[in-house]
Amino acid sequence: MCGIIGLVSKDEFSVRDELLKCLARLEYRGYDSWGYAAYDGAVVKRVGGIGNNTKGITDMKTTVAISHTRWATHGEVTQSNAHPHSNSKKTIFAVHNGIIINNRQIKERLMKKGYKFVSETDSEIIPHYFDYMLSKGKSMKEAICSFISEIEGTFAIVLFRKGDPHLYAIKRDSPLVLGLYDGKGILASDIYAFSDKTNKAVFFDDDEFAVLGMDSYRFYNKSGKLVRKKVCGFEWSREEEKLKHYKHYMIKEIKEQPSASKRLIDSFSTIQKDRLIRFAKLIRMASRVVFVGAGTSYHASLIGVSLLNKLGIESHTIIASEFESFMLVDDKTLVIAISQSGETMDVVTVIKDVLKKGATVASIVNVPYSTIQRYSKLSIEICAGQEVCVASTKTFTNQLITLFAIAAYLGVKEFDLATIPDKIEKTIKTNEGKVRKLARELYRKKDIFVLGKGVSYPMAREIALKLKEIPYIHAEGMMAGELKHGTIALVEKGTPVISLIPNENVDMLSSTREVEARGARSIIISNTDGELHIPKSGDAEFAIYSGIIGHLLSYYIARLKNLPIDKPRNLAKSVTVR
Ligand code: AGP
Ligand code: GLU
Repeated sequence: MCGIIGLVSKDEFSVRDELLKCLARLEYRGYDSWGYAAYDGAVVKRVGGIGNNTKGITDMKTTVAISHTRWATHGEVTQSNAHPHSNSKKTIFAVHNGIIINNRQIKERLMKKGYKFVSETDSEIIPHYFDYMLSKGKSMKEAICSFISEIEGTFAIVLFRKGDPHLYAIKRDSPLVLGLYDGKGILASDIYAFSDKTNKAVFFDDDEFAVLGMDSYRFYNKSGKLVRKKVCGFEWSREEEKLKHYKHYMIKEIKEQPSASKRLIDSFSTIQKDRLIRFAKLIRMASRVVFVGAGTSYHASLIGVSLLNKLGIESHTIIASEFESFMLVDDKTLVIAISQSGETMDVVTVIKDVLKKGATVASIVNVPYSTIQRYSKLSIEICAGQEVCVASTKTFTNQLITLFAIAAYLGVKEFDLATIPDKIEKTIKTNEGKVRKLARELYRKKDIFVLGKGVSYPMAREIALKLKEIPYIHAEGMMAGELKHGTIALVEKGTPVISLIPNENVDMLSSTREVEARGARSIIISNTDGELHIPKSGDAEFAIYSGIIGHLLSYYIARLKNLPIDKPRNLAKSVTVR
């Protein structure tokens, strides 16, 4: 994961006010450590997040600088493992997002040549590699071409040499984009880093590199041939970025759902009407549909499968990182990728692979211009706006609504989209107080079980995932019917078991009675009665409202535990490594 920034300008810029401000906008990509290096060789590295807190950093002016916010893959979270990394002479500085698979071989080779390594990262080979190539008389361009052909793995890299007024940027698989504004070039992991400054961007393709000067930029392919690139215009709304009166982004984003869902629903009869129709057509034309996603987006895809299967459309889903082993595709398959960020590497890897097999790729994303959107033949945007908290809340709801809109277009009559925003509002209003009380009862618990069936099964998994990632409670979301095949052995007096019971589902009711008979502290979320009562709805729609309860519960438990809700430990919003 991680976020990288490279800035080069004719006029001097402030490291603190420009470089680090842009870097802070990428912090959702990782916040283990951060650092920067400037033209004259000054380097600062710190463990932890940068946030908006750049106090204590003596500002400096420069014309060339790079910076990095890390999500560690190789080597612990320490100052020496923080980027930028440099060669021993401190003349070459590099930041890297990705994983260099053959780093050991390259490292051993360089060590034999006398290079000394000071970190445990895979990334440190980069400055040493370039040092070696340049010492052999290669130009920077030649060294980059050798790097691309020799290195296995994924990378978005920005590097510079002390005294050379250029930035060099190289990309394979990990995202990288160039923003152009006011005589400055800014390289970043995504457009969000500079969306407050410019709406002009050039996206890198794989195995391309660019040389960025003070007033020029050139792109090259892996053989060093000049490539013409299109400057794209983009739009980005910033209205959701501020915390306003909320304590955390998570609760703000939960409460934004009535308006975020309404915006999406409106888009289906206006700006996204055509996309919706074409999306439905792609589904009809395919011989089968295969969804792919990770984490919360995978849970949304399970609901997509159940809706399409209802229509008699053969559909499947699988967690992206296991796609290769468990899913078959051919040139008649439609692969639907669901991703908030549009950058999740496990999903991007699947897309690249299925495209080679001739499958068609469509996607449902939140972040426009993201890698997944750019690989897709057609993409529906869920219009949830920026989601800052690492946990997906409003974006999950909008993913579900998108799936409902597609299903409704294809003939599912179960829901009236227009009523959803009000029912979301009602769910929050009538349950927030009860959920806070419940949180006080549950916050010391070590384990929680969540049971679902049919469309409420993915919700059981979603609620359990949130309980793990935000309040750090071990939670298991499972198919209620599977309980009696083993897990029920763990249920004892007082074990909290949350049952998701839409429309008095008989099987759910009997699983609930089974755990109650063993002394469980049974908590029922239902649209007929129960401790937590949500609006009347069909089974699929139940998913939305029960999800909101689960998200609220995770939030309030984490608050009682005084945890870093928006940036939970070890996680990042956008997972751009495999
Ligand atoms: C959600 O709360 C999680 N942080 C995580 O599971 C997330 O849904 C997953 O990493 C997939 O991300 P994406 O939707 O951006 O592809
Ligand atoms: N592999 C590098 C590291 O562990 C970069 C990780 C990242 O992309 O954040 O430092």
